[in-house]
Amino acid sequence: MPARTDQPDPEAALHILGIAHDFGSRRVLAEVSLALARGEVVALLGASGCGKTTLLRLVAGLLAPTAGRIAIAGRVVAAPGRSLPPEARGLGMVFQDYALWPHLSVARNVAFPLEMRGVPRAERERRVAEALERVGLGGFGGRAPGTLSGGQQQRVALARALVARPPLILFDEPLSNLDKELRDSLARDIALLLREERLSALYVTHDRAEAFAVADRVAVMAGGRILQDDAPETLVARPASPEVARFLDLGALLPGEVRGRRFRHGPSGLSLPVAAPDGPAEALLPRRALRPDPAGPIAGEIAGQRFRGDDVLVSVRLAGGALLSVAAPARLPPGPVRLALDPGAATVFAGGAAHPVLSPIPEEA
Ligand SMILES: Nc1ncnc2c1ncn2[C@@H]1O[C@H](COP(=O)(O)OP(=O)(O)OP(=O)(O)O)[C@@H](O)[C@H]1O
Ligand SMILES: [Mg+2]
Repeated sequence: MPARTDQPDPEAALHILGIAHDFGSRRVLAEVSLALARGEVVALLGASGCGKTTLLRLVAGLLAPTAGRIAIAGRVVAAPGRSLPPEARGLGMVFQDYALWPHLSVARNVAFPLEMRGVPRAERERRVAEALERVGLGGFGGRAPGTLSGGQQQRVALARALVARPPLILFDEPLSNLDKELRDSLARDIALLLREERLSALYVTHDRAEAFAVADRVAVMAGGRILQDDAPETLVARPASPEVARFLDLGALLPGEVRGRRFRHGPSGLSLPVAAPDGPAEALLPRRALRPDPAGPIAGEIAGQRFRGDDVLVSVRLAGGALLSVAAPARLPPGPVRLALDPGAATVFAGGAAHPVLSPIPEEA
């Protein structure tokens, strides 16, 4: 959605306007702006230490920003010199460590946000039962959290986060304590649940697959900034910078130069037509844009092959040593190989912008 950077959008579930945050003299967030429409799920994706949790804590009210403003459901909750405490923001939260009260039953844990809001007992019990049913834990209300598995405890935390239908739910790496299979299935369940209940959520993760599974939009963060904020399909098809392409592990990035509407990678002689300004550049050759093809314009040597269950990931060495990866339906015979490139899916980063590679790609020696 279009995010004006000066005025909070009254229609947005969350609007972050030009936030900065310092710990002492260290700036850990700079100029972060982000808007979430109601019912939208946005993931914050970035490497460890890039500022994801700090941003979430600012939204929750556990920290006050150094600069900028935050509005939740049209209400300004943080601005220079004033910050609403967490309990007054009425958000749902799900953390990595579940954070359940061990001495309270599952039902009492889930009922807590309703008790805080003074919801009468009969309605509380009905809504708690409903929320537990929604997360697949119908009949677990009387149990103690300690008697549940990790995945089940996280489902209790999820029920607690959504039982009061908050304007926004915050997730901070909720699946990172679970093993891979459970992670995948719980990510799918969370995605479905958020959609069906039309809940708005900000979901922090450093796992690309998890971000893509859960979110309508993904904000890729690095060094306290948002590098790109787009739908998963757009991020993959049109990464805005080499950093985003690298972080998303989209494929090979070859350093080179643009001269006269041509990108050239010196060591391999690879040359790609592109309408980019002259100067130093990087070309992204995504795995999904390459395929083995005896008539293809790119020549290389097979450097390794790895069977992945559904296909084979082939590593191809170009003259000069640069490596490309390409998926093949079966193992290829060792030795020389030629590759075809779907030009529309390849990108040249030059002059601070991303430029699509044009066709036809000339054959190299
Ligand atoms: N209370 C604090 N005091 C000082 N520095 C802090 C504090 N909390 C976080 N930082 C620093 O701020 C930066 C951002 O931390 P943050 O926890 O937001 O990262 P993150 O993206 O959530 O990382 P991770 O994926 O490891 O959880 C880090 O360099 C961290 O060391
Ligand atoms: Mg964190």
